[in-house]
Amino acid sequence: MKNNRIVILGMGTVGTGFVNTYHLNQEIIEGKLGGPLNITRVLVGKAGKRRSVDLPKDLYTEDFEALDLENTDLVVELMGGVEPAFTYLKAALKKKCHVVTANKELMAKKGAELIGLADEMGVLLRYEASVGGGIPLITTINDGMASNKVVKMMGILNGTTNFILTKMTRDRLSYEEALGQAQDLGFAEADPTADVEGFDAAYKLAILSKDAFGVIPDPEEITRQGIREISLEDIEYGLELGYKIKLLALGEKKNAHVELSVQPALISVDHPIASVNQEFNALFIEGNSLGEIMLYGKGAGGMATGSAVMTDVMEVFINGRKYVGSCKEKNMPVNNIGLSPYYVRMEVLDSPGVLGQIAMIFGDYGISLDSVVQRARGLEIAPLVFITHDVVRDKLNRALREIEGKDYVVKIQSIIKVVR
Ligand code: NAP
Ligand code: HSE
Repeated sequence: MKNNRIVILGMGTVGTGFVNTYHLNQEIIEGKLGGPLNITRVLVGKAGKRRSVDLPKDLYTEDFEALDLENTDLVVELMGGVEPAFTYLKAALKKKCHVVTANKELMAKKGAELIGLADEMGVLLRYEASVGGGIPLITTINDGMASNKVVKMMGILNGTTNFILTKMTRDRLSYEEALGQAQDLGFAEADPTADVEGFDAAYKLAILSKDAFGVIPDPEEITRQGIREISLEDIEYGLELGYKIKLLALGEKKNAHVELSVQPALISVDHPIASVNQEFNALFIEGNSLGEIMLYGKGAGGMATGSAVMTDVMEVFINGRKYVGSCKEKNMPVNNIGLSPYYVRMEVLDSPGVLGQIAMIFGDYGISLDSVVQRARGLEIAPLVFITHDVVRDKLNRALREIEGKDYVVKIQSIIKVVR
């Protein structure tokens, strides 16, 4: 180890939180490191920009070639995106620099390649902050649960969507109003697509799948559905039936395949993950020996995420070891053929016998019903809500196609998975 010399790529929200965590806890951190952390250069897009972090101005550069990787022990990557971060980190690893990153998109898409290169070069790559911000999820799965087989995971891995759904549930805000508040508070980006369409959570689930199941999926293989279609009606019917709607990242290891999905789901109000509100994240994990645990905390924000990055840096300098449970890629298919109950809301003509005819079609397909809510509004059209027992989604879709073809059915409004 050569004097704890680090360069930082990116000095935005997380970079600032990383340096400010150092300044906040300098004595503790240096005590554990046995000396100071030497930040030798900081790569940014605009070197002259004003920043809320106390670092000498001459550390900033816009030129990657100016970083002097030969004399660097560790590169902290906090830029985001796949390129140029991927190219820069490959160059750093080839120069035998350790790497710490918070970049979920990069780790989800190129993590296996980067870990392979780090192994080849005999250096370390840590990425705790890439999933769940400040919550130690990666370390818990790899090290804390090293003696276990992870059977199942259920996560709220995106703070923006959890904030929006919480506002819709608690304050009955519309999706647009709740998104506006998330943007005003700085949780959601000006372009919120990655959050609300579930890409961000899918990247995080892909990373967790590698660590928990040893299966490295292409993030595109993960069944993904966002929250744009969730309406206040669904939230209200859900509550009436004893459920909250959350954007859940689900992972389950079966004998010959792994099921991975990100989707809005109804979850019983009694489940611990249903009480995770606002921008908070949580991961509920089931180990085959340990049983169930849940980790909860801030999944985003400069200081929380920066603290996880700092812990990774300290781990490299102090212990210098790989994750105990680092999984190898296994050739296992990713799909979602599993059984699940579903919530279905439709608009139908409010006339006698309609409910019975629809129930009969479900019966013809072998789909049994758990609950039904019908609220007559004194109008020609009435809402009908069903919760089915376990069914394969394909079969449900076939039944619903037939139901939607009937002249007494106006529209199938929502189909939402129910998680128990
Ligand atoms: P950010 O605020 O947008 O900061 C990005 C930084 O990278 C900026 O300093 C920017 O320079 C620099 N940068 C971007 N492209 C560059 C390029 N091509 N060359 C040189 N510098 C470049 O991003 P962030 O929110 O800190 O996120 C950083 C990483 O952490 C991302 O991978 C993100 O997914 C991950 N993460 C973020 C959070 C969070 O709460 N924000 C939580 C968990 C993980 P300028 O400052 O000059 O523009
Ligand atoms: N956009 C992410 C979220 C930030 O809302 O959770 C942390 O990755």
